[in-house]
Parts: sequence; structure tokens; C-alpha cells
Amino acid sequence: MPRTAITGTGFYVPDRVVTNEELTRYMDTSDEWIVERTGIQERRWVREGMSGAEMARRASLDALQDAGMEPGDLDAIVLATLSPDHFLPGTGVFLQRELGITDIPAIDLRAQCSGFVYGLSVADAFIRAGQYRNILLVGVEIQSTGLDLSTRGRDIAVLFGDGAGAAVLSATEEEGRGVLSTHLHADGRHAEVLWAEFSSSKHHPRITAEAMAEGRHYPTMDGREVFRNAVSRMPEVVEEALAANGLTTADIDLLVPHQANLRISEMVRRRLDLPEEKVVNNIQRYGNTTAATIPIALAEAVDDGRVHPGDLVCLVAFGSGFTWGAVLLRW
Ligand code: COA
Repeated sequence: MPRTAITGTGFYVPDRVVTNEELTRYMDTSDEWIVERTGIQERRWVREGMSGAEMARRASLDALQDAGMEPGDLDAIVLATLSPDHFLPGTGVFLQRELGITDIPAIDLRAQCSGFVYGLSVADAFIRAGQYRNILLVGVEIQSTGLDLSTRGRDIAVLFGDGAGAAVLSATEEEGRGVLSTHLHADGRHAEVLWAEFSSSKHHPRITAEAMAEGRHYPTMDGREVFRNAVSRMPEVVEEALAANGLTTADIDLLVPHQANLRISEMVRRRLDLPEEKVVNNIQRYGNTTAATIPIALAEAVDDGRVHPGDLVCLVAFGSGFTWGAVLLRW
């Protein structure tokens, strides 16, 4: 049975840097508060006219180049986002078109901050089943156009950023290489802890002027509840993945956690008893780019020479839903 290897990584972030200082112009917040509570120093926001599909295209071409492949070599696209360019159709088909290819399936996946880990699990199943050999997996997010930049929305607005990350996944028969296992979870009892009520197909019309005036189209979050669950679920699912493969935390060479909050990553690292150099953190520069954090962090780690052939790499995510999961792979 073939296994799934990551043969190329890439990312794209908008060139517009938004510092904490800039946010103080829009809302009552401070650089000290944001850095102390989240570790975030700056994030990127798109300029008018940039789409998720275009960011995804740029990240994808970077990953394809890294893999030594062309768009025409792909058998399928899996795209994860919670901020699609349009309500319909999904961003996946726009990406396919932007890449100049036709016919191959474009699968849109909604698992919020766990989107990349969920997507990797879906792609891995296709590859192991022998259905596809080369799959493009993308996490892309434009958060900036959907944030409440008034003081009312400050708890969320300071956290999120825009960006795209991509990975080329290829079937490999190479002994010992590739995805060892994937572990996905969800608990819908917490669906409204981090959510956006509108626009909603439950309502006719899907959005009203009143709902907008009340800001009910903006995401809302119980930050403490998210924090509490993230710091227990992430270590738990990493341990689950390790146990499934007869491995321990000491075997991990690199942990790439979803970048939700530096304090969350730090707590996860301590609970797993991992040294700092084994955990990738770049939230300081990009904020939380949701489905894009893991592929961006992975691509940067590869660029920085932090991943070597044979390394045991663990990707772990937690997010709205709640959804969470981990992937263990041999580089
Ligand atoms: N700037 C300044 N003050 C802010 C603020 C901001 N951006 N956002 C909230 N505050 C205020 C609150 O209003 C509150 O004021 P009060 O005490 O007068 O009521 C105070 O700061 C403390 O708020 P609290 O929510 O208790 O802070 P916290 O220590 O829990 O930190 C988060 C808030 C959001 C940073 C933290 O809960 C968190 O990171 N949670 C996880 C969020 C996350 O990762 N979401 C994405 C999941 S994938």
C-alpha cells in the first residue's frame, strides 16, 4: 500500500504588515496586552482586490516548484478554509482555474483551524487507497475582511491574520517514509463557543440590516473556553498518535502546532516535555491564519533547514467546532 509523503511545501502572505500599534488606532488595545496574552507582534492583511484563490495560487506554485512539479501533474486539490471567497462555489474550483488546469476534483473542506490536518487525513486516505498519487493540499484564509475592528471585537480582531500555505502530497513506496497515521476529533457541543451566527441559510434573508448593525455577522468567541480546551486536547491527541505507532514524545523531532496563541503552544510544549527547538512558532509575525497556520509554519521550517529526511514530524491542531487532530509522519 502506498504511503503519503510531503514532497513540496510553500506559502504566501500579503505584503501589508499590520502591527499591534496600528490596531490601537481602531480599537482600545495595546501592544503590551496583545504581546503578553498572545505573543503576536504583527500580522498580514490583504489589500483590496486580493482573493483567497489568488493567495492559494501563489502558495501552491511555491509548493509545486519545491516538489519539482507542474499544476498539470496533480490528480486532485483539497482546499481548507473557513473564509471562502464566495458562499458558492467553493474556493477550490477558483484555485483550480487560477492554476490553469481543468478536470481534476477540487474538494473544499471546512474544519476551521483544524482544516489542514483534516485535509491531510482526507488526502492520505485517497493516496493509500490508490485512487490518486499527487494531491495539492492548501490552507488559505482571509480573516481581515471579517473582523470587527471596533473595541467590541478586540478580543478576536487582534488574533487573526491572512495567508496561505500549501503542500504537495505524493504517493511513495519508499520504506519508512510518509504519513504514519492521522487522528481526527470533533465535539459539536461547543459549536457556538467560536462561531459567526450570520450570514446563515437558516434565515430568510440570510443576513439582515439589523443583524449587521448588532455585529452578529462577526465571529464571537469565549476565549477562555477555547484556551482551556486547546491546551488539553492538543497534547492528548499527540499522545494518541504516538501511542498508535508505539512511539513516545522523545521520538518527536519537530512539532508543528496550529498557531492560535503563543501561550497555548508553550503550554502544549511543556505538557509534552519537548525542548523549545523542537516546536515551530511563527505566530509572532503572522497571527492566527486559521487553516493556513500549519502549512505556513511547516514551509518556513523546511526553508530554515529544520526538517531532515527521516525526522519524525507531528502536526497538531485545535479550533472552532471544536475540531482537533494530529498527523504523525516520517519526513
Ligand atoms: N486589548 C485589550 N484588552 C482586551 C482585549 C484586547 N485586544 N481583548 C480583551 N480585552 C480585555 C477584556 O475585555 C477583559 O477586560 P475586563 O477584565 O475589564 O473584562 C480583559 O482584557 C481580560 O480578558 P480575558 O478574555 O479574560 O483575557 P484572557 O487572558 O482570557 O485572554 C485571549 C484573552 C483571547 C487572548 C485568550 O483567551 C485566548 O487566547 N484564547 C484562545 C483564543 C484562540 O486561540 N482562538 C482561536 C482558536 S483556534
